[in-house]
Amino acid sequence: MHAQMSELIPVLTRKDISYAVTALAKEISYDYREKELVLIGVLKGAFVFLSDLARCLSIPVKIDFITASSYGDGTTSSGKIRITETPSMDLKDKHVLLVEDIVDTGLTAGYLAAHLKSLGSKTVKLCAMIDKRERREKAVKVDYAGSVVEKGFLVGYGLDYDEQYRNLPEIYHLKL
Ligand code: IMP
Ligand code: MG
Repeated sequence: MHAQMSELIPVLTRKDISYAVTALAKEISYDYREKELVLIGVLKGAFVFLSDLARCLSIPVKIDFITASSYGDGTTSSGKIRITETPSMDLKDKHVLLVEDIVDTGLTAGYLAAHLKSLGSKTVKLCAMIDKRERREKAVKVDYAGSVVEKGFLVGYGLDYDEQYRNLPEIYHLKL
């Protein structure tokens, strides 16, 4: 019912996204040259962004995933973060880049970064397609951000509302 009556307002076009991803990949490739980098995608939201980003990198990388949930089925955070699947790869002494679709309160990214650090990784940095600032509660540093927005609930390019819209190639503001 909600989904049918809601409005999708364009925020980032395919071109904007492609430009941002290319720039990030260039920066990451440079920063991690001659280092062993492991990309850890946060499922499910990061699957689209990670696949584009990984294919734009000019350095060798390994890829794994972590599954976490902080949101129920709406647009407000439950505040509780659960790791339902931890990376299967050995991260000891590895340089890890946590790849998120969006950082909102920062609670998920902060929690996951600490978890990855506890697995013995040498460094943990954070890369997010969207750095959404207004509701930040935990002061996490988004080391690599595709785009910065102040507020609004975004969908598309992996981002969902109640599991919908992940497949949209552009990013939209969902007005409920
Ligand atoms: P945080 O813990 O509040 O930073 O939230 C992180 C997670 O919440 C993201 O990985 C998303 O799954 C979800 N999320 C936060 N903001 C949005 C949004 O605008 N659209 C879709 N999902 C969002
Ligand atoms: Mg989500």
